[in-house]
Order: sequence, then structure tokens, then C-alpha cells
Amino acid sequence: MEVIVTGPHEVAPTAAAVVLDRLGRLARAATRREPVLGLATGSSPLGLYRELAAAVADGRVDLAGAHGVALDEYVGLPQGHPQSYRSILVREVGERLGVPPDRLEVPDGSGDTLEELETAAAAFERRIAALGGIDLQILGIGANGHLGFNEPGSALASRTRVKRLSDRTREDNARFFSGFDAVPTHSVTQGLGTILEARTLLLLATGEAKARAVAAAVEGPLTSSCPASVLQWHPDVVVVLDEAAAAGLRNREYYAEAAAGLSR
Ligand code: GLP
Repeated sequence: MEVIVTGPHEVAPTAAAVVLDRLGRLARAATRREPVLGLATGSSPLGLYRELAAAVADGRVDLAGAHGVALDEYVGLPQGHPQSYRSILVREVGERLGVPPDRLEVPDGSGDTLEELETAAAAFERRIAALGGIDLQILGIGANGHLGFNEPGSALASRTRVKRLSDRTREDNARFFSGFDAVPTHSVTQGLGTILEARTLLLLATGEAKARAVAAAVEGPLTSSCPASVLQWHPDVVVVLDEAAAAGLRNREYYAEAAAGLSR
């Protein structure tokens, strides 16, 4: 795991440099194909999306053929609801990066029954497989350590499925709705096992409200009590933090030394 701690205004450009590096490697690979980017919603990656939009605008990267895959979706929001993750990804990512809506895969949370939702979850998994898997998954982290909507207690090998949102998550997300009661109670989310299959994971976190979850994810035990600790199992993870989000880490000095590469 590579942990980069930087200033609050450097998180987005630093994360963008990681994405551009991985996209460059893909473009140079012998098995070259259009990239598949895993896209988180939430406030954490918005600056990164703006940086990537600037890179597209000035020709440093071309994402016209790229596919975007969402991490999760609320259950039960009407189609076109401004807070549905499909709407947010079309608005914040698709339009800015030039990825058309028909290249954005989002779990379908419109089913009325558990069976319909499970069928949609299975179809979403098949779609990811048909695209050849996710090359780089962008992630935020919940204050309770969730990834996507994998709440504490989620199986580490879980696949895309219906998940009940915790009250903590609904309280955190109430700011996007008219209040707590308006936040959906359920989601369809990539499972932790699904997330682990992406070739690269890039986690962004800022602010002191994330410090405890970040410390548990990066340096705590691998446990479903902190779903984001599953990152420790993955071979290519980059974590980009500001000072406040990194405040609970014990090994800061080592991460800085490791980031310096082979220079002594
Ligand atoms: C939401 C999303 C997650 C996101 C997290 C953090 O509930 N389902 O994918 O990473 O919460 O959000 P934010 O970046 O706004 O703090």
C-alpha cells in the first residue's frame, strides 16, 4: 500500500497524477484496450474529477472511449432524482470527462422486490466482467470505515448485493437530502470482493472526520468491522490523504520515506 500525505489542496492533483500514470501504462500495454474506471460518488473525489476534466480539456488524456463503473446506487429513488448516483455520475463525471451516459454502468436500484434488486446486482457483476474488469477503482471512505455502501460487518468476499445503510451513513448523507428520513434505507453496492478485483485501488480522504476510519483501514487489523481495512489485502493500493485525515496514522514517517523511492 502506498500512503501519500499531502496538503489539502494537493490531494486532488496528487490523485489525478496516479490516475494519469495508470491510464498511461494501460495505453502503452501490449493488450491495450479502452480503460474502465471505477467511480465513487461522495464529496471526496470531486476535486479529482475536476483535475481529470482539465487533463481531458488540454489533451493530456482522452477518455472518449473509456467506460465508467459506479460503486453503488441507492434503492428506491425515482429515475432522474438529482441525488441518485446515476444522476451524479452523469453530471459530475460523464459530462466533465466526456464519457457518455451509455458508457456509465450503475447498479439498478429501481426494483421493488429483493428478488428484482438481486437480479439487477447479478447483471451489474456480469457487466463488469464483460468489460474485462475495472482497471482503477476510485474510492472514498465512510466515517464508519465503509467502502461503497459496505457497512461494518460486510463479508470481505462479498459481491454486488443489497445492503441496508447504517444510521451513521444516513446521518452523514442527510446533507444531500431534505433530512435523515429522506435518505434511502438501502443500496445496491459493489461487494468488497468485487472491489478487490479492480486492478488498482485509489482511496481519497480529507478532513479530521475521516482520521479514525483511515487509521483503522490502513493500520488496523483486517476486519469486517472496518470494511476499508480490506484494502490491506490488495496488491496495488494508493491512499491519498490530507494532514487532517492522516492524523491517526502511526507510521507517517515511514510512508514519507517510502514515497521517496530508492533514494536514501
Ligand atoms: C457515501 C458513498 C461512498 C463514499 C462515502 C464518503 O455514502 N456510498 O462511496 O465514499 O459515503 O463520502 P464523502 O466522500 O462525501 O465523505
